[in-house]
Amino acid sequence: MSLSSRAVARIDLGAIERNCGRLPKPLCAVVKANGYGHGAVTAAQAALAGGAEWLAVATADEAAELRKAGIDARLLVMGALTAEELRTATGADADVVAWTEAVAEAAPRVHVKLDTGMGRLGTKDRELALRLAARPNTAGLMTHFATADEPGDDHFPAQLAAFREFLDEVGRDDLLVHAANSAAALRDPQSHFDMVRCGVAVYGLDPLQEDPETKGLEPALSLHSWVASLRRLEAGESAGYGRRWRAYEPTWLATVPIGYGDGWRRGLTNNADVLIRGRRHPLVGAVSMDNVTVALGPDTDVELGDEVVLIGRQGDERILAEEVARRLGTINYEVTTGLLPRVRREPVR
Ligand SMILES: Cc1ncc(COP(=O)(O)O)c(C=O)c1O
Repeated sequence: MSLSSRAVARIDLGAIERNCGRLPKPLCAVVKANGYGHGAVTAAQAALAGGAEWLAVATADEAAELRKAGIDARLLVMGALTAEELRTATGADADVVAWTEAVAEAAPRVHVKLDTGMGRLGTKDRELALRLAARPNTAGLMTHFATADEPGDDHFPAQLAAFREFLDEVGRDDLLVHAANSAAALRDPQSHFDMVRCGVAVYGLDPLQEDPETKGLEPALSLHSWVASLRRLEAGESAGYGRRWRAYEPTWLATVPIGYGDGWRRGLTNNADVLIRGRRHPLVGAVSMDNVTVALGPDTDVELGDEVVLIGRQGDERILAEEVARRLGTINYEVTTGLLPRVRREPVR
């Protein structure tokens, strides 16, 4: 397989479509932060093809970007907005989330957000939320769960109960009610209401940081680079900055042109595997800005130009974003979202 660039994230549109097909409907696909690193417009188009009816973003500029690309689906901007951003969101014909009188008055269509225990955005003030919910430009009611990805916890059912109580108090049946993120959508049908707001699962990433296959999800992103240089190190010779790894026997070493300048984080120093010719090989030495080094052992059939898979499948082996996340002490969301613009995104089918 030939590579168009030193580091490429292939985005499998079919996987996004099929993931959307497996999620509850109606579905709002969350494509904020460049579609969790997959490319916002690409992800949005694939999600819509897979049956999503709404798209959600965090910022007004993200909404404007989708409109500029010709996407005409319903849009929801979920983040806090400055007055200028509110004008941008309105200009993009997006609904916005409101928890203050000021935003509710200034925006044409709002979704009122009650903070039932996320403790971040939304209002905890029931009286205010009820007043906002009664306004004629209110189109939706929402909340957001803090612990939907912690099976068996008691905060999630408490949030759900508080939200239900609020819905009863509002007593309007003409509003679009939504609460569930991916974990909630997969965990509890009672959280679905009129729409689910799924992000991570759309991309085939597991909200519980397990193997997405166990939930019928297909990872959409794979990360590729190539063997750009090969050398043989003698025992005792080292690779990379700070000599963070030394060969204890004669060892072939591949240099792969991807580094923290691409979002392949330095925390993966001596702490990742890559796939070459369908086999796992350890990343050795420090991750530098533009390159990493990979140990191939005392003998190797690896050749210059061979494809290197850092996330994804090759032969019978695969490396999940969840594995990379575990090694970094983070979550899969951050691994894909953290891939920088220097990594070329390549939609494939
Ligand atoms: C308000 C809101 N709803 C839904 C989502 C989607 O969450 P997930 O990617 O876990 O499905 C997010 C993402 O963080 C969010 O902030």
